[in-house]
Amino acid sequence: MSQKVQTVLLTGGSSGIGAETARMLADAGYKVYAGSRRGTVTAECEGRVTPVVLDVNSQESVRDAVSGIIAKEGHIDAVVCNAGNGIAGAVEQTSVDEAKYQFETCFFGAHRVIKEVLPYMRERNFGRIVTVSSVAAVVPIPYQTFYSSAKAAVLIYTKALSLEVKGFGIQCCSILPGDTKTGFTAARKVTAESQDRSSVYYDTLKKSVGRMEHDEQNGMPASKIASAIVRQLGRRRMAATSTPRIDYKAINFLVRILPTRLMLRIVGKLYA
Ligand SMILES: NC(=O)c1ccc[n+]([C@@H]2O[C@H](COP(=O)([O-])OP(=O)(O)OC[C@H]3O[C@@H](n4cnc5c(N)ncnc54)[C@H](OP(=O)(O)O)[C@@H]3O)[C@@H](O)[C@H]2O)c1
Repeated sequence: MSQKVQTVLLTGGSSGIGAETARMLADAGYKVYAGSRRGTVTAECEGRVTPVVLDVNSQESVRDAVSGIIAKEGHIDAVVCNAGNGIAGAVEQTSVDEAKYQFETCFFGAHRVIKEVLPYMRERNFGRIVTVSSVAAVVPIPYQTFYSSAKAAVLIYTKALSLEVKGFGIQCCSILPGDTKTGFTAARKVTAESQDRSSVYYDTLKKSVGRMEHDEQNGMPASKIASAIVRQLGRRRMAATSTPRIDYKAINFLVRILPTRLMLRIVGKLYA
């Protein structure tokens, strides 16, 4: 019997890409649980999406959320690991704790959720796992090195995981959004040392991050990324990766075929 996705747990559902994805999934008839620390959903999702208080930085919180959904629904067919945040700062001016915080949410946050749902998916021999990575996983972004690194880790994790679980009817897909207009820009934190105006990196970092923030706030609507996620969940065979919008697809392709030095020179002209 062919199974279909019915019940979805998505993280980061209170804002931006996650909120749009929750809305579109609800429109398409899925049963959606939207997790976030705030545990809220947007007005468009009210009454159609179930909000869940969930902090991806805490295994206990993730476990409680997953077991609560399993107790109600009996199964979770798909997870969308979307919760994320960004830090900016020169490498020299980023403490290990600040770097760990970046990985805590963007990388280990996804792992906590996936680790918790896999036994249930394996038991039913069916599951769909979507991670939200970034074009920054393939384009190295200076002064956001730890964000780029965490997203690259998410991307390779998703690909490797897909090989481990394909025999259990579980498919994985990583979405690579480019600049998208969401609350992400305002939530970005600059590391403590990089806020020092007298530092050698200060002016370049400010220009670089300023350009990125401008591009994000003039970027794609969150619905563009959300529709790519919903499309993948509706497919019989999900793609291994999906990069919404043709220009970002082209960037993703070019980064892979250009000699690394040339690619770095181009990125450097834009962001360093
Ligand atoms: N915007 C872009 O240009 C862009 C580009 C590439 C990739 N992305 C990725 O897209 C994803 C969604 O970001 P967005 O742009 O939609 O940003 P956003 O509007 O700031 O949304 C981030 C979401 O993550 C949740 N979140 C943050 N920390 C969390 C935690 N510890 N536990 C649970 N939920 C948490 C937030 O909810 P609470 O604060 O309520 O917890 C919020 O719902 C992120 O992974 C981001 O890296 C964004």
